[in-house]
Amino acid sequence: MDALELLVRNTSEVLTLEGSHRERAETALTPRAGACVGIRHGRIAFVGQESELPPNAVNLQTQVLDAEGGFVGPGFVDPHTHLVFAGERSAEFDLRNQGATYLEIAKAGGGIVSTVRATRAASEDDLVRLALPRVQRLLAQGVTVAEVKSGYGLDVENELKMLRVVRRLRALAPVELVPTLLCAHAVPEEYRGRREDYVRLCIDEILPAVAREGLARFCDVFVEDSAFTVDEARRILTAGRALGLVPRLHADQLTACGASELAAEMGAATADHLEQVTDAGLRALADANVTAVLVPTSTLFLRMRPYAPGRRIRDAGLNIALGTNVNPGSAMSENTALAMGLACLENGLTAAEAYWAATRGAALSLGLQRNGRLAVGDAGDLVMFSCASYRHLPYHLGVGHARTVVKSGRVVLRQELNSCG
Ligand code: NIG
Repeated sequence: MDALELLVRNTSEVLTLEGSHRERAETALTPRAGACVGIRHGRIAFVGQESELPPNAVNLQTQVLDAEGGFVGPGFVDPHTHLVFAGERSAEFDLRNQGATYLEIAKAGGGIVSTVRATRAASEDDLVRLALPRVQRLLAQGVTVAEVKSGYGLDVENELKMLRVVRRLRALAPVELVPTLLCAHAVPEEYRGRREDYVRLCIDEILPAVAREGLARFCDVFVEDSAFTVDEARRILTAGRALGLVPRLHADQLTACGASELAAEMGAATADHLEQVTDAGLRALADANVTAVLVPTSTLFLRMRPYAPGRRIRDAGLNIALGTNVNPGSAMSENTALAMGLACLENGLTAAEAYWAATRGAALSLGLQRNGRLAVGDAGDLVMFSCASYRHLPYHLGVGHARTVVKSGRVVLRQELNSCG
């Protein structure tokens, strides 16, 4: 074996996530007690006991990191973010805490379209400057891959602008960003009363322009009474798919509106939110093997009930992914640890299921076979935690424990954190 470039040793355990979502989550995490991890050429090259390291695996050039008895796992993957935006909506937060609902605020001219106004007014440079600290906060949680949606541009120029910002951020931050076109996030103000014209703009102009520049991997639609109908979503997602964009859906968040059934029909990669999913919707998702993306921070933030039925979703056999949904309206939070805590407290997942959902489950939802796992040949993305067990993460509610983050074999973040848990 050529010498390793990086070796992590002195761990409580290494979670390699080599199992499948169909088995018990504790087994799927595949814990390796006291193991060490070696990286070469930016990829995992060794996982095992130090005594099993081949001769010459470590030389003077190998960077050796001491995990100080903490556990090690793959970088977190955030499968649902809206982290590119301008402006903020703290006044809406206040209004909701006094009883106004998300929909009432949207109807009064706030909500998504207010962020659209601010985002349209911002330059590409402004948006990069505003988004970079959000990416940095995700990284501080241990996130090494994040999906990012457009959806605050809602015209050709501004949707392209948002996705170009994502492309620029990819070069600036050590977090791999996976772009999703969400031009069907809301009907923009200038199309009020002319929604069919906006659907045509999405299909005839925005989607082709984005595909021409290769700016997105996925196409998403907010399917909701207040946003786009199932029929409109079907047309937009079909047009996107013809251009190579894989469907994802904001499904059954505020009302049960047939979005999960559409996700199944379209063979979508994911159905996200699912607070209101029906039994029939759940069966359809399970039959079509669609990943359920849970974003409980937004359920909390909007003071909504119920939370998505994570326990039933898991028991129906779906793969589950867990995201922060960071955005200015429904989840102003880049806190993966909080999302994991809520997934346990409110969606009914176990700690192991929540950890799977934030790592391997999320990577699979993005089609990333080599992420969210630490098998030989996988991406050299890992997190060294300041606690000995993954169970501590949802339990220590909202507190991040990523002490050192490694991306493609390079240390990209170190934080002074005392050992705990
Ligand atoms: O995923 N539900 C739609 N989209 C976002 C909220 C966006 C906003 O309010 O600005 C979500 O929760």
